[in-house]
Amino acid sequence: MLRSLYWAGAGLAMIAAGPAFADDLAATGGWSANTKGQAATPPMGWNSWNAFHGDIDEEKVLASANVIVNSGLAAKGFKSINIDDGWWLKRDMATGRVIIRTKTFPSAAMPDGSTSFRPLTDRLHAMGLRAGIYSDIGRNTCGQVFGNGSSTNPEGSVAEREVGLYGHVDQDIGIFFKEWGFDYIKVDGCGIRALPASSPLVKNGTYRAFPPLIDFDSIQRTDVKAVRGLFEEVAQALDRHNPDGQYTFSLCIWGSADVRSWAAKVGNLSRTSEDITPQWSRMLHNMDTAARRELYAHPGSWNDPDMLFIGSGEFDAAHMTEARSHFSMWAMLNAPLIIGFDLRKANAEQLAVLGNSAIIALNQDPGGHQAVLAYDSNDLQIYVKTLANGDKAVALLNRTSAPIEADLTAAQLKLASDAQIGMTDLWSGKTMQFVGETKLPVGPRETLVYRVSGQHLLPNGSYLSELPGNVYPAVDGVTARQLDPMIHRGLGPWTGTRGGGEPPRYAGWGGARADRAPWGQELSISGTKFPYGIGIMANSRIEVRNPGKRKLVAQVGIDDSGDAGGRRVRFEIYGDRKLLSQSAWQAAGTAPASIEASVAGYRIIELVARTDRPGGGDFPVSWGNAALTD
Ligand code: GLA
Repeated sequence: MLRSLYWAGAGLAMIAAGPAFADDLAATGGWSANTKGQAATPPMGWNSWNAFHGDIDEEKVLASANVIVNSGLAAKGFKSINIDDGWWLKRDMATGRVIIRTKTFPSAAMPDGSTSFRPLTDRLHAMGLRAGIYSDIGRNTCGQVFGNGSSTNPEGSVAEREVGLYGHVDQDIGIFFKEWGFDYIKVDGCGIRALPASSPLVKNGTYRAFPPLIDFDSIQRTDVKAVRGLFEEVAQALDRHNPDGQYTFSLCIWGSADVRSWAAKVGNLSRTSEDITPQWSRMLHNMDTAARRELYAHPGSWNDPDMLFIGSGEFDAAHMTEARSHFSMWAMLNAPLIIGFDLRKANAEQLAVLGNSAIIALNQDPGGHQAVLAYDSNDLQIYVKTLANGDKAVALLNRTSAPIEADLTAAQLKLASDAQIGMTDLWSGKTMQFVGETKLPVGPRETLVYRVSGQHLLPNGSYLSELPGNVYPAVDGVTARQLDPMIHRGLGPWTGTRGGGEPPRYAGWGGARADRAPWGQELSISGTKFPYGIGIMANSRIEVRNPGKRKLVAQVGIDDSGDAGGRRVRFEIYGDRKLLSQSAWQAAGTAPASIEASVAGYRIIELVARTDRPGGGDFPVSWGNAALTD
């Protein structure tokens, strides 16, 4: 193997040590996104919350499990049966153990008076299913805070009602996984968000105050480090108590606490938004929080825009177009496919939507590449997903209530424009061919989804933006945590039109993007536009898993969409920690520089963009047309 240092492009500087302020840009040779636990493909299953809220019992859980098995959905991958909030009675003061509400989960009553979910998990396992449980990172749960008064909330004294993980992580995780045999846990965050001393529930003595670590209205007032630390503690306990790695860790802090920047290092899936409700516009809201985070999802660590609401409200039996769109988009975005419907009420057509194997196959594709936006607007969007066998999937989503005639081009698919492109409609089964471009009518709220084959634009390799599952912006250069203004804002699901309307939420604006600059503009260096590539802030380090290619090439420079404030940027390529190539210092307005490195034999390639001096605001740089080739 040739591990040569490779200089390319004009006038490249000698390699020098990076400035001391940018130590976190040092190449590590590693892949820092999480690969522990069980989530090589997005989790699939069922969860009790959307269907029943706190009103759950064993019969309802088993009834849905039975439908999942008998309808064939389990065989198609819907394996995890997840119990959400509402299962607990109280925490036992003598032993510290959480006691299960046996009135609703009778099989949990043990002869010695203790409680255990083992009979239930045994039963689910015997059906070929996995079992999931729910807790909160704080002392109290979301149901206790937002559903105060629900009959399935914990009982007893203030201390007995503290059923959350806080102060009990090791004990609870050990019990859930080793004793009770669960395989999956969703950890919510209301206990560290909603119980300030000023809360009426604290003032009236219902709960102990927990000075909020998350302020959902202010990233400034959120203690990101402390929140991350608590979830890391859970991750470590899961690892400790599951030496076989048989667990899935689902983080549920609704896109707060800048979780975008760290979730992929900690858990298997992470909620990107507040709760979904069964409204079209709320579905768009939730979807948008994941849709531009294509580089933050990988095998082992997925974006979670919340559970499916197919079966209810605007996704019920009278709204099958909306139901198919919801399912299609969750599949394309590699979102977890967690059904939130009382499946006893599902008709054949609804089960057929959930059981569309061709759509499920997109979600479960072993490549793990989340779809990338090829065309973005508030009305119609085109998403393209790379599949492991070289095919593509494309979804055309009509977000509006009027028909739209869409143009789909070979360039959007990153396929050659002079060769035939074949497409199969994954809802109707119909096939079609075209060369160059085609027109496709998309009905109101419809999503057309096709599996596509054609000649790749890069015949001997892939653009990095075709491989988002292999690309992780381990340091994405976002230091000014700002709220994402691009998310669809519907009517307040809980407030109606009271107040001023929903403000931008979810820190992470300016995160790395495929085929776009971080703030949504076209990639552009000194006036030269790049249709493809990676856009990211300066002072960033991207890890790339090399699928066995020999060369990495890109056109690099400061992107035209920001203000570098006079700073210059050097672009560096590493292979397994070794510097392979670097550019000269690029100033704003400098023409794009070609950079190229021989990466044959290197497992992890790192792309570093560092500034010559600290200070100033964040600004974008471009790895234009970045590609891995033979
Ligand atoms: C939060 C979560 C929901 C659900 C409820 C349970 O709101 O986001 O998904 O788990 O808590 O109380």
